[in-house]
Amino acid sequence: SLPTKVKIVEVSPRDGLQNEKEFIPTSVKIELINRLSAAGFPNIEAVSFVSPKWVPQMADGADVMAGIQRRPGTIYSALTPNLKGFDAALAAGMDEVVIFGAASEAFSQKNINCSIAESIARFEPVAQAAKSAGLRLRASISCSLGCPYQGEVPIGAVVDVARRMLALGCDEIDVADTIGVGTAARVEQVMRAVTEVVEPSRVAGHFHDTYGQSLANILAAMQAGISIFHASVAGLGGCPYAKGATGNVATEDVLYMLRGLDIDTGIDLDAVVDIGQWISSHIGHKSSSRAGNALAAR
Ligand code: HMG
Ligand code: MG
Repeated sequence: SLPTKVKIVEVSPRDGLQNEKEFIPTSVKIELINRLSAAGFPNIEAVSFVSPKWVPQMADGADVMAGIQRRPGTIYSALTPNLKGFDAALAAGMDEVVIFGAASEAFSQKNINCSIAESIARFEPVAQAAKSAGLRLRASISCSLGCPYQGEVPIGAVVDVARRMLALGCDEIDVADTIGVGTAARVEQVMRAVTEVVEPSRVAGHFHDTYGQSLANILAAMQAGISIFHASVAGLGGCPYAKGATGNVATEDVLYMLRGLDIDTGIDLDAVVDIGQWISSHIGHKSSSRAGNALAAR
């Protein structure tokens, strides 16, 4: 059976923008987050505190956070790979920090320059600091459905990282299809396996739409008991360390599907359609949201 309510985590300000070649002005990032807040998102992944040499687009995270108007009830999150990132997140007043690992050794090396085991050791002090500061802690597991460097990723590897992330005290764990290769049956299997070790209410699906499978994968994940999904307006995004990977599933498409299934999100689809068109015009490429473009043309 399907959930009656779904939590959408809007990741466009972070995952959506991080891979844009041209530097997006801080003021545009601030306006994007303000518009998303007004549309009613319960959780917005706003910035990353990572090395600006690795991801220059995210270098202005502190200024972005200082400039936004926070909506009470919205959780603002930041990616924090290490204590340096955590300290910046704490100073910026984040509500939630995200540690990000991978189920594939090869991707871990390319993305965060260390092995999976080393990453867990690095996350430990971040997790402790988050807990003692009273911040929410989330963990992302990249390459849960496949890896651009090693190909197939065993389900056991995903479950193993999920178990270790849970042991660090994570409130929520994101099963991420970084390169969008997963298909519905496999997604359902992975989600069923992960929810044997992590409560289903704490597991999220983070799907990139490279192969056009995201909506089907969300439906499959819901059938496996998942009710938290990440999405990005206009389908913006891509990871700098996953060549050819396109953006996250478009928020407009997800909201349209969920509305048709009578599943509540608390988010204003019309407002999101406007935001998708607005941000696409600002960064100079057409929205890749099918529902967004269709609704905007009506
Ligand atoms: P490193 O080079 O191994 O780390 O990078 P280091 O500790 O040796 O530091 C190197 C330099 O970076 C030093 O500066 C540090 O100060 C600086 P230098 O002395 O050379 O001038 N530095 C930092 N600066 C600011 N904030 C920080 C920070 N940490 C170090 N937090 C590191 C290791 C993890 C830092 C690096 O690999 C990195 O920043 N990687 C970024 C990875 C990233 O952001 N990837 C994209 C996001 S993940 C994603 O998109 C996937 C996801 O969407 C899920 C999915 O779809 O799969 C979440
Ligand atoms: Mg991603």
